Amino acid sequence: MKEGTGWFLRRMLAYRPWLYSIDGLVWIGVYTLRLVPGLVAQRAFDTLQAGRTDPPAILWFAALFLGVGVTQAVVNTTGVLVDMRYRFSLSAVLQRNMLAELLRRPGARALDRSAGEALNVFRDDVRIAEDGVDWTLDMVFHVVNASLAMWILIQVNATIAIFVFVPLVAIILVAQIATRRLQQTRVASRAATSRVTGALGEIFGAVQAVQIAHAERGVVEYFRRLGEARRQAALRERAITLVTDSVYWNTVHLGTGLILLLGARSMRDGTFTVGDFALFVSYLGLVTDFSAFAGEFLTQYKQLGVSVQRMLALMRGSSPLVSAAGLVAHAPLYLRGRLPGTFADPGSLVAGRRGGLSPLRYVEAAQLSYGFSAESEQPHGPGIRDVSFRLERGSFTVVTGRIGAGKTTLLRVLLGLLPRHSGEISWNGIRVDDPSAIFVPPHCSYVPQIPRLFSESIRDNILLGWPTSADALNAAIHRAVLEHDISQFDNGLDTIVGSRGVRLSGGQVQRTAAARALVREADLLVVDDLSSALDVETEHALWERLSGSAEMPRRDITVLAVSHRRPVLRRADQIVLLKDGRVEARGSLNDLLVASVEMQRLWHEGAAGGEPPPDSST
Ligand SMILES: Nc1ncnc2c1ncn2[C@@H]1O[C@H](COP(=O)(O)OP(=O)(O)OP(=O)(O)O)[C@@H](O)[C@H]1O
Ligand SMILES: [Mg+2]
Repeated sequence: MKEGTGWFLRRMLAYRPWLYSIDGLVWIGVYTLRLVPGLVAQRAFDTLQAGRTDPPAILWFAALFLGVGVTQAVVNTTGVLVDMRYRFSLSAVLQRNMLAELLRRPGARALDRSAGEALNVFRDDVRIAEDGVDWTLDMVFHVVNASLAMWILIQVNATIAIFVFVPLVAIILVAQIATRRLQQTRVASRAATSRVTGALGEIFGAVQAVQIAHAERGVVEYFRRLGEARRQAALRERAITLVTDSVYWNTVHLGTGLILLLGARSMRDGTFTVGDFALFVSYLGLVTDFSAFAGEFLTQYKQLGVSVQRMLALMRGSSPLVSAAGLVAHAPLYLRGRLPGTFADPGSLVAGRRGGLSPLRYVEAAQLSYGFSAESEQPHGPGIRDVSFRLERGSFTVVTGRIGAGKTTLLRVLLGLLPRHSGEISWNGIRVDDPSAIFVPPHCSYVPQIPRLFSESIRDNILLGWPTSADALNAAIHRAVLEHDISQFDNGLDTIVGSRGVRLSGGQVQRTAAARALVREADLLVVDDLSSALDVETEHALWERLSGSAEMPRRDITVLAVSHRRPVLRRADQIVLLKDGRVEARGSLNDLLVASVEMQRLWHEGAAGGEPPPDSST
């Protein structure tokens, strides 16, 4: 496999090579120092055994122990600090690259999974990748350290060294490999836990839905089942972990016993001293640590492969064309001080406002097509097909059609939130290859059909960091017909709207989103079904103010609105009528009411309010 674990490790090891080298150097110190206490102990006990119990010798050894301890503390702390910095850079660059790719994707298709699942990749898989890269150092040092320890021990007593350690290492390696199962149970237990937390989140978010469906019993039963599955998975994992741990620790203790037994004989004839014994017991831990780590490293290496694939899958979503290299690209990180550009520096935002694009004179869309699935290449699949229109500066265009006709899809394709499969878009006659780069403020702003608010104040929800004056903010609020609502709130503009705006009515959410779009004073205003939650009076005021104001006269603002409501249709300079994703008819309301049966149908359905037709002749 081209983008496997080896590829990933090679690329990541080449990232921050200096930090990696320094980390390596410090950790050589950490590992080498682990060999010292055993050697000191050996000398100390041998000296004592030789009968030298005078205070200077004892003090000398005590000082040596203390010195080694302090040095270890200093080197270990340095090691952890350097390691943290290195590890942080590794995970930060992976997270940065994945996020950059998600942000590059058409907005309506940024995630191909739930936000919770994506966060899992950002947290858990990145963590595993970080370990995977960092542990390469540990693995090397473990091997070197264990070899050194073995070499020293063989010098002291080759027979005991080989008889004791070879089987020890073997036992632990076998135990590690045999406990691959441990890995499986861990994965299963983690999945069961995330199902429980996921269900909890959904239930909390749907209390009302559960109550009105009187589904408490069913929900509790469902939750109980998930809890039971989790209990079993966790128990299995715990049992296997305990067995593995006990194999490990019993082996260490058995090893000590073996040294004692084999050593006792040699001690009697004087070839194995008490100091040697102390050295063996001290190094026992090092060698067993090595074999335990080797086992863990092998399992981790497997897991790393899975995590790399999961990160790539998140980045690619449904477009396999995204290059894997993006994941491991060596990007700069801004870990200190001010962030470059964007909102950290509002000045740059204002200065770069127009980005060289001339003010809108006209926008053209020709033969736009997009299908949600492969079958939609067929004429009647969901999506849009061959849709063309032209928006003149200062004009008011309405896209209309039945539920599911493709109105929202058309807007998203125009704005680059969905990637068009064919067709062309142009701004003042200049072809636009990437509409998502052009159809943003200050050229274009968009009020989506289902707006998203954050659990912040109304002011922050409108501005979202956009640099503007208080007057401009108030003007936008006025144009969105929101000023009366705001004056009713206890804290006015500083009222916190609650999670996703739960403390606002549907109409208030829509108008807050409209104010967010209007404060950006864009040439082109695109709104999707904006007045669906408004009363007649508010709706009238909204369209009146939306399409022009003292600061921004009507001739300057171009509106593209999705609606099937009569007051909006009446305002339209042109109507684009969609049916099954295609343009059924296009023109003025009066023309369409004469020429199109579909338009007549929509118009009469919209007459629920008992409004008269625009013209008595229709
Ligand atoms: N993410 C999606 N995946 C698959 N099909 C989709 C998706 N989004 C929309 N569709 C389908 O595409 C068609 C057009 O949907 P669209 O949302 O554009 O309709 P609409 O005209 O805006 O409807 P409404 O008036 O209800 O807002 C529908 O048949 C819908 O089921
Ligand atoms: Mg829609």
